[in-house]
Amino acid sequence: MMNTDAPVDVFMTHIDGWQKEDGSCVCQNHAPCLHLGRSGNSHIIFIQKQLILLIFWKIIPRTWGSMYNQFFGFNEKPFSQTPDTRYLYLSRQHDEALSTLLYGIENRCGFMLLTGEVGSGKTTMIRTLLNLLSDSVETCLVLNSLLNTLDLLKSINRDFGNDWQFDSHQKQIEILNQFLLEVNQSGKTVVVIIDEAQNLSNEALEMTRMLSNLETETAKLITIILAGQPELEEKLSQKEMRQLSQRIQIHARLKPFSLDQTKDYIAHRISCSGDKTHAQFKDEAIKRIYKKTRGIPRLINNLCDLGLLAAFSQSTYVVDKKIIQRALKEVPQYVYYS
Ligand SMILES: Nc1ncnc2c1ncn2[C@@H]1O[C@H](COP(=O)(O)OP(=O)(O)OP(=O)(O)O)[C@@H](O)[C@H]1O
Ligand SMILES: [Mg+2]
Repeated sequence: MMNTDAPVDVFMTHIDGWQKEDGSCVCQNHAPCLHLGRSGNSHIIFIQKQLILLIFWKIIPRTWGSMYNQFFGFNEKPFSQTPDTRYLYLSRQHDEALSTLLYGIENRCGFMLLTGEVGSGKTTMIRTLLNLLSDSVETCLVLNSLLNTLDLLKSINRDFGNDWQFDSHQKQIEILNQFLLEVNQSGKTVVVIIDEAQNLSNEALEMTRMLSNLETETAKLITIILAGQPELEEKLSQKEMRQLSQRIQIHARLKPFSLDQTKDYIAHRISCSGDKTHAQFKDEAIKRIYKKTRGIPRLINNLCDLGLLAAFSQSTYVVDKKIIQRALKEVPQYVYYS
């Protein structure tokens, strides 16, 4: 049933007007529009809504996006939000973190920690690590850390292709242990990575400690990497977590980029997005970006993308301080540093 008083329905039908009692419409700006009587068919309204949504959410951004890419000579947008390893920029600290984790895996460390501020590149780092590991390492990546202990075990067993349906902790651990022994006998190693580990409950963290205890007399059977935001460090520093924290053999910390690294990072992402690109960021713009983002890659990406969009709307290839200032008006200020 169509609600005759509902401004939303009417708004969706006529965008900037509404219908009067007699069925005529009070549209301010646009020419002939579809007039539906008050008793009009609700599924026609539904189709109209879908069409409008399609235009606003799919067609306009796509057209706009492809014009933007064409203008700057990009094959794709250089500053996306996804942890895409094709755009990896190995800053000194990212390089060190990666080498440290690889060392830990080679040496079968039981527990490792990867921490860094929100948006500093932890997931990107994990994906890079997974791409680098050879077939002699069996890996499992847990992305949903809001699991209870049983679901965590099930998720690990399922990822390794083991039986996982049993609703018993003991059975799950037995199955995993058997798998680890078999893998170990074949000369391979096993790595479990838990991303967003700051969300793990104390019980789930305790479960990971118990898993790291699965070992033979001479070797650890499993390496566990916990990746998370600084809250994870806080959690692990609690007194009741000391049994786990004492087992952490390697702790890699991702620090934000310096000003020079921010400049290199921006140039790197632009060069990855096409062979002949025209976009240029002036030094004054980069300084502004660095000041507002403090070198956090995700924030840099957001601001650079908006800067390019603003430059595109002014038909210029050059992003200067003014353009960044304008772009900053489009974003919630509490996210950025002052
Ligand atoms: N070293 C890097 N090289 C290229 N891009 C990076 C790098 N580090 C981060 N990024 C980019 O920054 C954005 C955020 O990265 P990522 O999602 O890995 O951060 P995160 O630390 O996992 O964030 P969160 O704490 O929210 O989980 C992504 O778009 C990613 O591509
Ligand atoms: Mg992440």
